[in-house]
Amino acid sequence: MKSFVAALTRHPLSLAGTAIATAAAILFLTFFILDLMGMHGHPYSGILAYLIVPALFVFGLLLIPLGLRRARRRAAGAAEFPVLDFNQPQVRSRFLVFFVLTVLNVVIIAAATYKTVEVMDTTEFCGVTCHSVMEPEYTAFQRGPHASTRCVDCHIGPGAGWFVKSKLSGSWQVVSVALDLYPTPIPTPVHNLRPARETCEQCHWPQKFVGDRLKVLTRYDDDEANTPLKTVLLMRVGGLAGRQSQGIHWHVDPANTIRYRSDESREEIFEVELTSRDGRTDRWFAPGADEGEAATAGVWRTMDCVDCHNRPSHTFRTPEREVDHALETAHIAADLPFVRREGLRLVGVTYADKAAAEAGIRDGLAAFYAAEYPELARERAGDIAAAAQALHEGWSSNVFPGMKVGWNTYPNHIGHESSPGCFRCHDDMHETADGRVISQDCESCHSLLAMEETEPGILATLSP
Ligand code: HEC
Ligand code: HEC
Ligand code: HEC
Ligand code: HEC
Ligand code: HEC
Repeated sequence: MKSFVAALTRHPLSLAGTAIATAAAILFLTFFILDLMGMHGHPYSGILAYLIVPALFVFGLLLIPLGLRRARRRAAGAAEFPVLDFNQPQVRSRFLVFFVLTVLNVVIIAAATYKTVEVMDTTEFCGVTCHSVMEPEYTAFQRGPHASTRCVDCHIGPGAGWFVKSKLSGSWQVVSVALDLYPTPIPTPVHNLRPARETCEQCHWPQKFVGDRLKVLTRYDDDEANTPLKTVLLMRVGGLAGRQSQGIHWHVDPANTIRYRSDESREEIFEVELTSRDGRTDRWFAPGADEGEAATAGVWRTMDCVDCHNRPSHTFRTPEREVDHALETAHIAADLPFVRREGLRLVGVTYADKAAAEAGIRDGLAAFYAAEYPELARERAGDIAAAAQALHEGWSSNVFPGMKVGWNTYPNHIGHESSPGCFRCHDDMHETADGRVISQDCESCHSLLAMEETEPGILATLSP
């Protein structure tokens, strides 16, 4: 044992290696035990414990043989490699110590690898490590309905194949982040996203019959009273009913296959092909898209969940929806005169960064009330400041100057409000050879029970 220690300390390199590996092993075990005891700490601590410390450990281990070899070379005339003579008890005990330590090291490395993979799958790793790059997506994700799921559930999904694929492209992404090569904003749509069949359908399934869903949307007017306006829609979500599916989720009935040909952005759809249950194929063309060169332009894609739910997690809002949301959730006091109109004006200004936006919105709103409603500006300074704060928060959840992401950089395809969405196909213009069109009949998707009314009769009936 003594000679083993002597060998490890003979050369400064192996001495340093031993020190680094031992320190890393102790650190790692400490983190591991803390983790087992349920103390997880800051997201970065996981990255430190399971990415950086194990790397140091392996680095230390590698230094040891390097130092040993140098030391041997330095001793003049010695052979390159040691001669192992197991008849000598000293060699036997040295080998035993070496063997036990190696087994221990393998166990530590295996545990570390396992935890490394686990850490790389956490939302924090994706969202925080590459903070500036993923900031828009991470911010929106945290406000969305999937905040408690993990990035990898949609972006990688189960199974080894996509794991390896995404880690390979992930390695390139790390390099491109380090060297500042990534595009800003990150382009959408994601062309190599794993098919929704294998990701969304871990938790949702298209065969589920959802039926009709009542949706009450509250919007506000630009008048002095910020009058609330209600829109009531009965959404025909549908699903598989018996053997025949109906409504909006008819598109993802496994018995139907819809393919479409579009430009790279998928905003402009040239041709739609439907193969139905009975094997019949229908084709609809946008005006002129079946002639000459236009007949082969673009790329084909099979429609799935993401063609409508393209923002299930990173849902950015329009300025109008953001301000309406803040009014509806009382983050902005709805009795401040013209607060919607002024708020909308202020979040629409181009600011250089978050601090500039905060100051610009705060001062802009204060100046408006000081000029137009001086008495109210004094009495309700607190509410005005709170409204400015809420507006700033809305701005910074949608606008990221560092990534060149602004309002409406990422269109939402559900509906037809912030982008053509459903109307990319349902525009009464895509036509079959025999003159049938993909319909824009309002009632086929939803019954419009009320549209921007102050006191819709339907709501009085439902909740007298
Ligand atoms: C519920 C599923 C889901 C979750 C969870 C999810 N994403 Fe996404 N993400 C998507 C979809 C779908 C797209 C593709 C949109 C498209 O192609 O139009 C996307 C696109 C992206 C893009 C490309 C830019 C863009 O906005 O289109 C980035 C970057 C991204 N996601 C990062 C993340 C990060 C980081 C997390 C975790 C904090 C995460 N995603 C969690 C579904 C998800
Ligand atoms: C790990 C499980 C999981 C995965 C994977 C997942 N979801 Fe979800 N999804 C949920 C949960 C849980 C909710 C319910 C959230 C709630 O009620 O607030 C939800 C809610 C939704 C909703 C309703 C949102 C709303 O505003 O009420 C939609 C739409 C949706 N998911 C679409 C998708 C799509 C599209 C994908 C694939 C890109 C996907 N989900 C992947 C778990 C998942
Ligand atoms: C043709 C477009 C389209 C496709 C394709 C589509 N959806 Fe939807 N889905 C909708 C619309 C529209 C709604 C109603 C949304 C609303 O009113 O908020 C909806 C609602 C939902 C909801 C909420 C249902 C509820 O209980 O309220 C979930 C979950 C969902 N979709 C998941 C999926 C999944 C998973 C897929 C793929 C298998 C999918 N959708 C495919 C358009 C689509
Ligand atoms: C192809 C299906 C489809 C057709 C056709 C359609 N809509 Fe919609 N509409 C939707 C969906 C999906 C939404 C989104 C609901 C939501 O917010 O989740 C929507 C939302 C709306 C809203 C609410 C907008 C908001 O957010 O305030 C109005 C108003 C509306 N539609 C009116 C119409 C009218 C009028 C027509 C007929 C010209 C029409 N729609 C045709 C699918 C359709
Ligand atoms: C890629 C093109 C495409 C997009 C995008 C699209 N649809 Fe469709 N949709 C079709 C086609 C094709 C049909 C079948 C038309 C026919 O048979 O006449 C259809 C049919 C429908 C039907 C009637 C289903 C039935 O019961 O027969 C509804 C409802 C519908 N779509 C709603 C929507 C909504 C809501 C959206 C947006 C969230 C949407 N669609 C987006 C192509 C599309």
